Amino acid sequence: MPEHMENAMSDRLFIFDTTLRDGEQSPGAAMTKDEKLRIARQLEKLGVDVIEAGFAAASPGDADAIRAIAETIAGSTVCSLARANERDIHAAGGAIKPASRGNGAGGRIHTFIATSPIHMEKKLRMQPDQVVEAAIKAVKLALEYTDDVEFSAEDAVRSDMDFLVRIFDEVIKAGSKTINVPDTVGYSIPALWGERMKQLIERVPDANKVIWSTHCHNDLGMAVANSLAAVMNGARQVECTINGLGERAGNASLEEVVMAVRTRRDIFTCDSRIDATQIVPASKLVSTITGYPVQPNKAIVGANAFAHESGIHQDGVLKHRETYEIMRAEDVGWNANRLTLGKLSGRNAFKTKLAELGIVLDSEEAMNAAFGRFKELADKKREIFDEDLQALVGEGGITAEHERFKLVSLKVCSETGEVPHASLVISDDGAEKRAQGNGSGPVDASFKALESVIASGADLLLYSVNNITSGTDSQGEVTVRLSKDGRIVNGQGADTDIVVASAKAYLHALNKLNSKLERAHPQV
Ligand code: KIV
Ligand code: ZN
Repeated sequence: MPEHMENAMSDRLFIFDTTLRDGEQSPGAAMTKDEKLRIARQLEKLGVDVIEAGFAAASPGDADAIRAIAETIAGSTVCSLARANERDIHAAGGAIKPASRGNGAGGRIHTFIATSPIHMEKKLRMQPDQVVEAAIKAVKLALEYTDDVEFSAEDAVRSDMDFLVRIFDEVIKAGSKTINVPDTVGYSIPALWGERMKQLIERVPDANKVIWSTHCHNDLGMAVANSLAAVMNGARQVECTINGLGERAGNASLEEVVMAVRTRRDIFTCDSRIDATQIVPASKLVSTITGYPVQPNKAIVGANAFAHESGIHQDGVLKHRETYEIMRAEDVGWNANRLTLGKLSGRNAFKTKLAELGIVLDSEEAMNAAFGRFKELADKKREIFDEDLQALVGEGGITAEHERFKLVSLKVCSETGEVPHASLVISDDGAEKRAQGNGSGPVDASFKALESVIASGADLLLYSVNNITSGTDSQGEVTVRLSKDGRIVNGQGADTDIVVASAKAYLHALNKLNSKLERAHPQV
């Protein structure tokens, strides 16, 4: 085997998850520190190699969240993105510091600069030589914080090959250990993307000393296919997100990449260390927290991914599962969470279950509030599943840093031929306020009542309801997306009564609009 291909032929595929960074760039998906921590714990359980926890220079809140994740996570490398400039690198270096102290899997700085003619000329207004110089400087500065430095050539898909070879050669000499080749605009197709990876590995001197990585966007629906083509041609790190979340049409979906490689061991010569049984729980958690529902026919994690509708298919599966199934639902985590709690479960069982789910409540008060809500739910619903607990904790108020508005009570009257009416009581920083409203339905009436007393003036961009588990006693999980002054937030609420869930979701979104959480993405 030629020396330059040795690393590229290794049988280990590294999974770099960027749900908390590129995924967070989806409109309304901005997360609080607490929410990021919960997802990070699940990603660690899933076994991802690298968690890109955020973009430290983007905002003090983002830096703080990365730091908290770096303090907590030991089983995955914790990474911050940084543009190739001093300020960003210092911010990233500071944020990952707790992870770089030698415990756990360490900290990484992922620095990037655009290399395509259009980006260099129109966006950066820099000459190619200046871009190379900035890249080298950034890698060297990042090495002062950690020996794990990744370099990305943004818009590599539209970059000149000779220039890519030159800049990659330089950053490898400067000490970068991972070289990422992004299709930033989702423009490539598998044959070309595979060929690009192959040529880079052949042409860049010392290609064998680094891990080659790919980062594909889904604008033409080919992010996963392109990532797999890169793997077939030597990439050994894939950058991806849970549920394919991400900028515009999203990134390559982690679950699809992982399961394609694992299911087709006959053609892939590598595999990841992902614990696939944690895939569905991770998907549900990310969907709950970001408010991005998963389409039912989504591969691996969609509700119908393992449902057989046609009689011929059902008959075939009953006779021999493999007639129509290439994977087992339980292997990717469907029905993995069947240990249920119920009305009679005590505090200890509840606490143990939360710990198992990676949910840490930092005060006795928060634990009491959570246990109280659990008991209320258990009165209405016979079995409480993991998903119910995630929703119960996620709807705000238990782990949220500050919750200005709370729903105290809600009464709705809805009758055929009558105008639906809602009367409710909310707590506004501890002060009780009453409101009434009419609407076209009970949810509309409740929102009108809330607005009559809060007068947020926010625009409602999205309202959606999903059942968390199956059955008519299931909790309904409502997502409300609000926009105000250029900020977009998602709120979630869960309850066995969907009107109550809706009011909670609305208030959750308003609490987020009110919080100091800010997202100011510098140019990426
Ligand atoms: O899409 C992209 O190019 C990126 C880089 C920052 C890696 O997200
Ligand atoms: Zn990206």
